[in-house]
Amino acid sequence: MRGSLLVDHIGELVTNDGRDGDPLGVRRDAALLIEDGQVAWVGSARDAPAADRRIDAGGAAVLPGFVDSHAHLVFAGDRAAEFAARMAGEPYTGGGIRTTVGATRAASDEDLRATVGRLRAEMLRQGTTTAEIKSGYGLTVADEARSLRIAAEFTEDTTFLGAHVVPAEYADRPDDYVGMVCGPMLAAAAPYARWIDVFCERGAFDADHARAILACGQAAGLGVRLHANQLGPGPGVRLGVEMGAASVDHCTHLTDADIDALAGSETVATLLPGAEFSTRSPYPDARRLLDAGVTVALATDCNPGSSYTSSMPFCVALAVREMRMTPAEAVWAATAGGAAALRRTDVGRLTPGARADLIVLDAPSHLHLAYRPGVPLIRQVLHNGVPR
Ligand code: NIG
Ligand code: FE
Repeated sequence: MRGSLLVDHIGELVTNDGRDGDPLGVRRDAALLIEDGQVAWVGSARDAPAADRRIDAGGAAVLPGFVDSHAHLVFAGDRAAEFAARMAGEPYTGGGIRTTVGATRAASDEDLRATVGRLRAEMLRQGTTTAEIKSGYGLTVADEARSLRIAAEFTEDTTFLGAHVVPAEYADRPDDYVGMVCGPMLAAAAPYARWIDVFCERGAFDADHARAILACGQAAGLGVRLHANQLGPGPGVRLGVEMGAASVDHCTHLTDADIDALAGSETVATLLPGAEFSTRSPYPDARRLLDAGVTVALATDCNPGSSYTSSMPFCVALAVREMRMTPAEAVWAATAGGAAALRRTDVGRLTPGARADLIVLDAPSHLHLAYRPGVPLIRQVLHNGVPR
């Protein structure tokens, strides 16, 4: 859409500009000018410049669009029965991943594309303007490549997760599978991927396998991220820091050494409270991470097994209620934190030059996201400056 657009009468504008020691960079009675899909000006409503078009926020809060830095949207089928069994007392082990792999391999490209499109639209309605999308339910050369090809139709932040689990046909020769992931699978996946990820966990990939796979991905030009320390303590977080990962995700079971490693690094700890909710597990200790100075992001982990939610507002509410993050910390983690986890500076903030991705809330303050859980508070979403 051409021409300038003024968002006016903003009661509370969250900019994430970090000025005056306020990480959210809140401005009251503000306005924001959009030109060419970018934020062109931010200031007081009384100084607002003229514009071709105008949106009257009516005193509501305006936030940067959410940045969901961890989602597994390319899959077929669901695992509702597994969820019901868990709620009746069964533990979550990650074993159900293979069920989804079977369904995904059997699905057509059109079916997979329709699922990604449906979930991406669901996200957008809930304020997510940037989403990372992983492969990881194909686990053959052709199925991983097509998963990423389809994901790339929806996002720039595509992640190759060929090392999600060792598929059944390689169960007795995991070294061969790792060789395949590093060889033909990576070669087929890399043209469609920005990132590489490994599920480093007992029952999935150990530290040696994970290091080898991540190193191959790095050599192919991919950035590193990791599923780490989800189901128990382990080497994943420290391996991620050692390899300069942009983010280590889950971080549910951390030792002091893990926290020290993160605190002295550029690696973001991405917390996925939807997974703890949906697997009825203890939540990560967000306070310990924040108090140690670690950069924390929040993401949905949207997938059919451990966290079938696409809702960042729900994750913000969980982070505040269950992980003792302040509402401001949770909103920052869901916007600027997600951007840091994707090493992006163009999203997650509303400052001149940023992409004009924003949410108008049906509420006067960001506090309401946690204060009014489960309520559809996203009144309007602008993506690249365009109302959606
Ligand atoms: O992030 N932990 C590994 N992968 C997903 C779960 C996948 C599944 O259960 O299908 C996660 O929780
Ligand atoms: Fe995940």
